Amino acid sequence: MALHIINHPIAEHVLTNLRDRKTTQAEYHTLCRRIGTILFTKAFENLALESTTVTTPLCNCEGKILASDVVLIPILRAGFALLTPALELLPDAIVGYFGLQRNGEAKVECYYQKLPPVTDMDVFILDPMLATGNSAHFAIRMLQNFQPKSINFVSILGAPEGIRRIMDEFPLVNIFTIAMDKELNEKNFIVPGLGDFGDRFHGTL
Ligand code: URA
Repeated sequence: MALHIINHPIAEHVLTNLRDRKTTQAEYHTLCRRIGTILFTKAFENLALESTTVTTPLCNCEGKILASDVVLIPILRAGFALLTPALELLPDAIVGYFGLQRNGEAKVECYYQKLPPVTDMDVFILDPMLATGNSAHFAIRMLQNFQPKSINFVSILGAPEGIRRIMDEFPLVNIFTIAMDKELNEKNFIVPGLGDFGDRFHGTL
């Protein structure tokens, strides 16, 4: 269990374009799908397989298929951006949701929750920005009650503060991200970051 910072030239190229304030909403969507594909290719790397036999047009042969269901849980609303690339790789994944928002004291309020069964399953929480770690903390704590096989947090960018907090409090959780930025500012935005991810993705600037 660990922090996985994914080093990939295309991911870096796409991240730089995501950071650019001039990037349009339409471009943003395409870039999220591209970086998401790289993220989930890595994040799904350790899924367990089981043996099977498959009949090709020529003969029978041994093959491998995924051993168990996978659960994807986007944190609304920004996490929605990572759902499409995850489902492109794993279209049979089961999907649940947390709708989380900050309340007055910068703590997390859950305004929507729809969780499928997660016991003994590999669960992937989707949230592009791991900033303070408040949302990650809430989601992980809730999911731990149901004893999943693994909990994995998938983000595009992380702040050192949030990454450290989640690693310290949940040492068994895997974090997958493309980059760890410098710091949080006084408004808890990641710096240099890419601004308000949800607003840029949903066109609500
Ligand atoms: N959420 C965002 O959208 N941007 C940040 O920088 C931090 C949290």
